[in-house]
Amino acid sequence: MDIPWWRDAVVYEIYVRSFADASGDGVGDLTGVRRRLPYLRELGVDAIWLTPFYPSPMADGGYDVADYRGVDPLFGTLDDFESLVTDAHEHGLRVLVDIVPNHSSAEHPWFRAALRGEGRDRYIFRDTTNNWQSTFGGSAWTQVPDGQYYLHLFAPGQPDFNWRNPEVHAEFLDILRFWLDRGVDGFRIDVAMGLYKAEGLPDVSDQSFMSDSPVWGRPEVHGVYRDWRRLLDTYPGERMAVGEVWTDSSEDLARYVRPDELQQSFNFAWLQAPWSPTAFKQVIDDTLATVPFATWVLSNHDVVRHRTRYDADDPGTGLARARAALLTMLALPGSAYLYQGEELGLPEVTDLPDEARQDPVFFQSGGALPGRDGCRVPIPWTVDAPSHGFSPGGVEPWLPQPATFAELSVEKQEGDAESTLEFYRRALACRRDLVKRIPYTLEWLESPEGALFFSRGSLTCAVNCGLGPVRLPEHDEVLLSSGPLRRDLLPPDTAVWLRRDS
Ligand code: GLC
Repeated sequence: MDIPWWRDAVVYEIYVRSFADASGDGVGDLTGVRRRLPYLRELGVDAIWLTPFYPSPMADGGYDVADYRGVDPLFGTLDDFESLVTDAHEHGLRVLVDIVPNHSSAEHPWFRAALRGEGRDRYIFRDTTNNWQSTFGGSAWTQVPDGQYYLHLFAPGQPDFNWRNPEVHAEFLDILRFWLDRGVDGFRIDVAMGLYKAEGLPDVSDQSFMSDSPVWGRPEVHGVYRDWRRLLDTYPGERMAVGEVWTDSSEDLARYVRPDELQQSFNFAWLQAPWSPTAFKQVIDDTLATVPFATWVLSNHDVVRHRTRYDADDPGTGLARARAALLTMLALPGSAYLYQGEELGLPEVTDLPDEARQDPVFFQSGGALPGRDGCRVPIPWTVDAPSHGFSPGGVEPWLPQPATFAELSVEKQEGDAESTLEFYRRALACRRDLVKRIPYTLEWLESPEGALFFSRGSLTCAVNCGLGPVRLPEHDEVLLSSGPLRRDLLPPDTAVWLRRDS
């Protein structure tokens, strides 16, 4: 069997609002992305995933879509999108777009009609509420002037669709076709385990992402992905879909990744694992035993950046651990998803002023939770403020960048062999060279306390999560390390790739 392109792909997530601003309004856009394609090619990723750029009132940064077949003027035009896809393909990069099927914007024509009393059955309207909470805080129900309530598992501006209505199915198949016809290589499916809610909407005692929850992961959802897969397979070029599936078990995750369903699902267990060889080993074993095509991810636009997560446990170690975790992740069988800015070692920006915050999580929690703006601060391309090359001229970006971004900018890191950017470039180039030659399987090697050693054919990866240095496993050549080695010793918070000819 030919290996599909996505099996080992490294996909780079672009949070469009924060990547690069070409128009000069302080907000990233599609032309900004297009101009930075050479940077992405040089970084060495295989594909980009664009977060929603569709017309939206931006109640949740664009995850509230008012028109699924257009481009918000903030981000450009449909022509800009088409030029981006053409250029990305010329640069050898595939393009995934985000599809948001659990809910629309409250400004979507269907919801506007529903408020007028037309076609309410496309959404979930009830005369009374249940005890479900919005993921962002507060009740999941909002009352409309005639007294009914509608369900929104996220912000009030994001009413949930009623997937028991066939019209919703037909509409989404048509939306997928619209973007497939414009050359996209695949979709990232937002809240892929949402969509269906248990009949009768029973009260819950626990609303976490459990496999048997009335709120998430209902079995009917798999029928939707079977239909979508059939559609994807009618197009040439191995079009694919990756699901954002939050769940409590790898068995449940695997239910989405089947020959007649999605090609991939995000494996959040990897991102949730603490800095521990036992935790890492367990996630790797569980994943490889259950999910046919594995994926790995350390950061995205919804979670605290991994450098800062690791630092929180053990101050001062964050960057070293982030680099070591990347090298470990890139050695695993499967596909890896990177989040813009991690190649610069960007930390979470924790001290954004309240007035600057925009995430509904901050507002719906009454300011109790900081929200996700801290991982969405615009990318620093150059040393100079005010925007560090994010916007042209003296324009201030939509979220303020801290002064520390100057030192972390692309300009500062490019050409500096010690920098995180150059480390990512080396790691991705080395992986690209190796990946076709090593088996998809992984073998554990005996590891000293605190460390984890494994091999895939001639590649051995060793990561040291312990407190003291450990001796490197047997090898013929050191290919790459995430930090300096001390002769044949692997220091703490460091990972290494070794070649071993057997
Ligand atoms: C997903 C997105 C997140 C968004 C939510 C609601 O989790 O990644 O950013 O807020 O869905 O659409």
